[in-house]
Amino acid sequence: MAEPTVLTNIEGRVATLTINRPDKLNALNIPTRAAIVEALDDLEHNAEVRVVILTGAGEKAFIAGADIAEFEGRTGVAQYRVMSVPNSVFEAAERFPKPLIAAINGFCLGGGCELAMACDFRIAADTAKLGQPEINLGILPGGGGTQRLPRLVGLGAAYKMLYTGEMISAAEALRIGLVEEVVPLAELRNRVQAIAESIATKSPVALRLIKEGLRASIRTSLDEGMRLERILFGLAFSSEDKEEGVKAFLAKRKPEFQGR
Ligand code: COA
Repeated sequence: MAEPTVLTNIEGRVATLTINRPDKLNALNIPTRAAIVEALDDLEHNAEVRVVILTGAGEKAFIAGADIAEFEGRTGVAQYRVMSVPNSVFEAAERFPKPLIAAINGFCLGGGCELAMACDFRIAADTAKLGQPEINLGILPGGGGTQRLPRLVGLGAAYKMLYTGEMISAAEALRIGLVEEVVPLAELRNRVQAIAESIATKSPVALRLIKEGLRASIRTSLDEGMRLERILFGLAFSSEDKEEGVKAFLAKRKPEFQGR
């Protein structure tokens, strides 16, 4: 039987999804995209799992982009269908209601960079190289590169990356705000696991509401966003987790959030 293209490993309340095509630098072909969407759907409905990490197999690549071998001869209509399936891999990542962290362990290019940007935040190995090299193929990013990248790094840096197609180092990605932290490759796994475990101790209800608010912040006006935040804030007050958090603080003990 063929190796699965996506591996799911659950340790306590943290799940790690590993894109598993190391011989192709974890490039995203159609079956791999579908497997990621399916795995995210399973993890969304797994009540034990509170935080998810997305990473690539091996030490060389996170994801080296869309599978270019699939591009040859593909028509515009066919490509439009790939990108417009009701739940594309990028939408599935962005709409995933639990915290989703990208652990960038190497080449993070094209659709790989776009998938990392659709995650909530990104921790990179010092060896990682990031970029949107689509221009070198005579195309442009199709998974959010023209939309999420400028929102993270600003227009100028996005133009530079998309026009030149050049890869940038993890340190440069940190400088422009494309990743939130850079650690030595050997420490990446433990560092991201530790961050995820810390987040997993928080209220799942509040985490979900934070995600709703932050997702809305790049789509709405400040007034609309503030209105939504007030509603989310009110909703948090109806949770058992809020009672537990407040009681635990007053009793000087650690809270045990149940996600209710
Ligand atoms: N799609 C399909 N196959 C890919 C791929 C991609 N995006 N990226 C790498 N691979 C494959 C290579 O074809 C090669 O396969 P092979 O061994 O069967 O020939 C294998 O992965 C290893 O890659 P290779 O190019 O030999 O590694 P390298 O260290 O010399 O170069 C990169 C690494 C990332 C610079 C180079 O692979 C590359 O430029 N990849 C394409 C990146 C890209 O343009 N992504 C955006 C796509 S829209």
